[in-house]
Amino acid sequence: MSVASRRLTSGETTAVLTAAAQASLRAPSVFNTQPWTWHTAGDTLELCVDRSRHLGTVDADGRLLLISCGIALHHARTALAAAGFAVTVERFPGPDQPDLLARIHLGAEIPADPQAQRMAAAIHRRRTDRRAFGDRVVSEQMLTRLRRFVEFEGAYLHVVPADQIPMLAVTTERAARAEHEDPAYQAELDRWTSRPIWRSDGVPPASMVQPDARRVPVRDFTPDGATAGLTAGPGDDKGAAYVIVFGTDDQPLDLLRGGEAVSALLLLATAEGLATAPLSEAVEVTWPRHLLRGMLSDLGVPFLAVRLGYPVSSPLLPAVPRRDAADVITIASP
Ligand SMILES: Cc1cc2nc3c(=O)[nH]c(=O)nc-3n(C[C@H](O)[C@H](O)[C@H](O)COP(=O)(O)O)c2cc1C
Repeated sequence: MSVASRRLTSGETTAVLTAAAQASLRAPSVFNTQPWTWHTAGDTLELCVDRSRHLGTVDADGRLLLISCGIALHHARTALAAAGFAVTVERFPGPDQPDLLARIHLGAEIPADPQAQRMAAAIHRRRTDRRAFGDRVVSEQMLTRLRRFVEFEGAYLHVVPADQIPMLAVTTERAARAEHEDPAYQAELDRWTSRPIWRSDGVPPASMVQPDARRVPVRDFTPDGATAGLTAGPGDDKGAAYVIVFGTDDQPLDLLRGGEAVSALLLLATAEGLATAPLSEAVEVTWPRHLLRGMLSDLGVPFLAVRLGYPVSSPLLPAVPRRDAADVITIASP
C-alpha cells in the first residue's frame, strides 16, 4: 500500500498531531512566556493564545504575543511536514473567537520534505545566543535564501546595510533606556526573570549575557548585572548580520504570519549553522518603532529584528526550560 492511500487510525492521528504540538513547545517567545495552548480533536489541531501570559507593559498592543504564537504555529507545521503529512491551515477560523489563532487539518501522508526535516531537527538545537558573534561574515547567498523563506511565509526581510547599523544601535539603546526608566517595565522584567523553577518559563540567568559594549546592544535582563550566566565572549559581532522581519500591516493576521516567517528564518539559519538572537526592544516602544519603520523606507511595519552570525566558541548553550506538555496540550476524548 502506498503511503498516500493509507488511512490513519484515530489513535495514530492524535499521536501525529500531539507530536507536532510537542515539537512547538521549543519555540522561542518573548521573555519565554510561551503564550499558547494546543487542542487536538479528531484530525484537527487548534492553536489558542493564552492571554494570561501576555506582557502588558513590554508588549501593550500584543504584537510580540501574536508573533510568538506564529512561531509556535510554524514549528508545528514544520514538524508535520518533516513527518510526511500534508496539512491545511485556517488562520483565525472563528470570527467570534479571536483567541483561536489557527486550526491545522491533518491531510494525507506524503513523502517527507527533506528541507522540513532539516528545519525540524533544528528546532531542538536552536537557542537564543546573546554572546557576541565572530568575524565570519554571513554571505549574501545565505541572506537571499533566508529572505526567500521569509517571503514564502508572507512577510519581508530587510537586511540592515552597514550604514544603517549605527541607527539600529541608537534606536535599540534609546528604547532600552526608556523601558528601564519605567517602573512597570522593571516589575514585569523582574517577574519573568525570577521565575520559580517549577514554572518552566521566563528567562533564566544562565541564558543572559553580562552587559558589555556591543555593536547593537543586547537586552540587559539583569539591570544590576550581577547574575547573568554568560559573558559576551571573544567576538565583537563584526561578521554579524542584522535583519528586520516586517509586513505590510500589523493586523492580527499579519502578526501571526510574521511569527511564522520569523520561525522560518530562525530554523533555516540554525540548520545552516548560524546562531541567532532576536532583538525586540526597538519594536516595543512606539517612537523607536517609527524610527525602524523609517529604516524600511516606510515600506512596511517592523515585527522583529534578529542578529545572525557565527559563534566564536561554539559549545551548545543549555536549553532554556519549557512548560510541561500536559499543561499546554489538551486532547479531546474520541
Ligand atoms: C518575539 C520575541 C522577542 C524577543 N525579544 C528578545 C530580546 O529583545 N532580547 C533577547 O535577548 N531575547 C529576545 N527573545 C528571545 C527570548 O527571550 C527567548 O526565545 C526565550 O528566552 C527562550 O529561549 P531560547 O530562544 O533560547 O529557547 C525574543 C523572542 C521572541 C520570540
